[in-house]
Amino acid sequence: MTNGGPTRDDRWQIQVRGLHKSFGSQEVLRGIDLDIERGKTNIVIGGSGQGKSVLMKHLMGLLQPDSGQICVDGEDIVGLDEVAIGKVQRKFGMVFQYAALFDSLNVVENIAFPLIERYHLPKSEILDRVRDLLRRLDLANVPGVEEKFPGELSGGMRKRVGLARALVDRPKILLYDEPTTGLDPIASKNVDEMIRRTADDFGVTSVVISHDMASTFRIADRIAMLYDGTIIACGTPAELLAAPHPRLREFVEPSGAVKFGASS
Ligand SMILES: Nc1ncnc2c1ncn2[C@@H]1O[C@H](COP(=O)(O)OP(=O)(O)OP(=O)(O)O)[C@@H](O)[C@H]1O
Ligand SMILES: [Mg+2]
Repeated sequence: MTNGGPTRDDRWQIQVRGLHKSFGSQEVLRGIDLDIERGKTNIVIGGSGQGKSVLMKHLMGLLQPDSGQICVDGEDIVGLDEVAIGKVQRKFGMVFQYAALFDSLNVVENIAFPLIERYHLPKSEILDRVRDLLRRLDLANVPGVEEKFPGELSGGMRKRVGLARALVDRPKILLYDEPTTGLDPIASKNVDEMIRRTADDFGVTSVVISHDMASTFRIADRIAMLYDGTIIACGTPAELLAAPHPRLREFVEPSGAVKFGASS
């Protein structure tokens, strides 16, 4: 099915090389190299305004770069036409920061939305898929949950409904933009657990943008730090802790979330 070149490595689901993006005179991405590991939880950290959301939008073809390569399963998606990019986008699910549910649709309608938009599936199959997700995400035991509207749910439930909607078309890759921002510590921990469990249960590749260092070092398989338009550090949490880049150390240390090895 794939026609990747000889350098293609199955370990990496997404490989970004030399990605540049400017808005007017503002150079946001200045040569990003990034590898996203298949089936793992990959976390991108970095200060506000550094370009994390812009980078994430490039990964699923929502933004086009000025130059560079973005290979998804070995296929360079830069410059693909609309039909081809649409196919690539079906590999992705996106979990938005504030769930971004439709207020006028109930839980079932919200979760089913991508399926109804994309395919003509029988109603019974749609309902089966939605109910399966409600069960897997511990929502099935909430009384009357299927008919509830977003305004009648708690914040944590809304997040799970948002996740169910991102999962309903069985994506291979889930993108989360700051999933724990604005949540209390307990709710944040629950979201962390949800991200880990989703990765394990569904075998998806996760890409998470995070501000939350405690959470990052708890759940990441790999971490990449974006600074001044490039990725200045990447590796497993243990690798980064053992030999931290000075900027990474500056960024992470104030949170008190982790202890670094010998100073660099
Ligand atoms: N569509 C756009 N047009 C013009 N400028 C943009 C656009 N999208 C993003 N930017 C600019 O690019 C820079 C990076 O924005 P981005 O949203 O990626 O930051 P971020 O790292 O996600 O920050 P935060 O942690 O606050 O969400 C910002 O200066 C922003 O103003
Ligand atoms: Mg952002």
